Amino acid sequence: MIVLKTDKEIDAMRPAGHLAFELLELVKDFIKPGISTEDINVLVHEHTLKQGGTPAPLNYRGFPKSVCTSVNQVVCHGIPSKSQVLKEGDIINVDVTPIVAGYHGDSSRTYLVGKKVPENARKLTECAKTCLDLGIAAVKDGCRIGDIGHAIQTYAESLGYGVVRDFVGHGIGKTFHEDPQVPHYGKQGRGIRLSKGMVFTIEPMINEKSWKCKVLKDEWTAVTVDGKLSAQFEHTIAIRSSGEVEILTLPQ
Ligand code: MF3
Ligand code: CO
Ligand code: CO
Repeated sequence: MIVLKTDKEIDAMRPAGHLAFELLELVKDFIKPGISTEDINVLVHEHTLKQGGTPAPLNYRGFPKSVCTSVNQVVCHGIPSKSQVLKEGDIINVDVTPIVAGYHGDSSRTYLVGKKVPENARKLTECAKTCLDLGIAAVKDGCRIGDIGHAIQTYAESLGYGVVRDFVGHGIGKTFHEDPQVPHYGKQGRGIRLSKGMVFTIEPMINEKSWKCKVLKDEWTAVTVDGKLSAQFEHTIAIRSSGEVEILTLPQ
């Protein structure tokens, strides 16, 4: 069941979206070789509380931390740890989801660590960002959900990359994950029709080679099966009653 939102409810989701953006800006200035992924967790946790929000990941279905930190071959849902120290040349996705005034704002970026990130990692990260932009550009009142995945898949595969199938975008609002599912692969004109009042994420995970993933024994950390890199960007998007498409996870 898709929970459609009124313009008033979409407006009420903005503070959560703004805080998600603010957190990712803080993380941008904080990331450097030598910090641990737990340091990022503390930063995100404390700033979320300071701004009157709640970090949705903490204790969500047993997830133990307030943010997901996914380094190099980790596709998503990496668990912050004191023993995981960032080094020059790494790439890391940081995925934040604050709850403010009862609503969730979900956004992530992949950051380059230090100034000597190899060309292949830079290009993959750039592609994942472009895939998010292309996915958002495909959103139109009345289009089909497959149009989003088609735009992303066509571009990523044209560069020889793989689009992750095991994890998808999702409806979002008072709950973290709602209908509909938003695949980042697919066919034009297929799937449910997008309509006014829908609020959902687009969050393409792009793998350097194979799209296949496996989940580690911690039951969260998803990694590429071939050990190659993965990158991801995410925004929360709304279709207002006017048909206007609004990115909620941008600055105030
Ligand atoms: N933020 C992730 C998403 O984009 C979900 C993380 S679930 C968690 O949907 F439990 F790992 F936090
Ligand atoms: Co999400
Ligand atoms: Co997310």
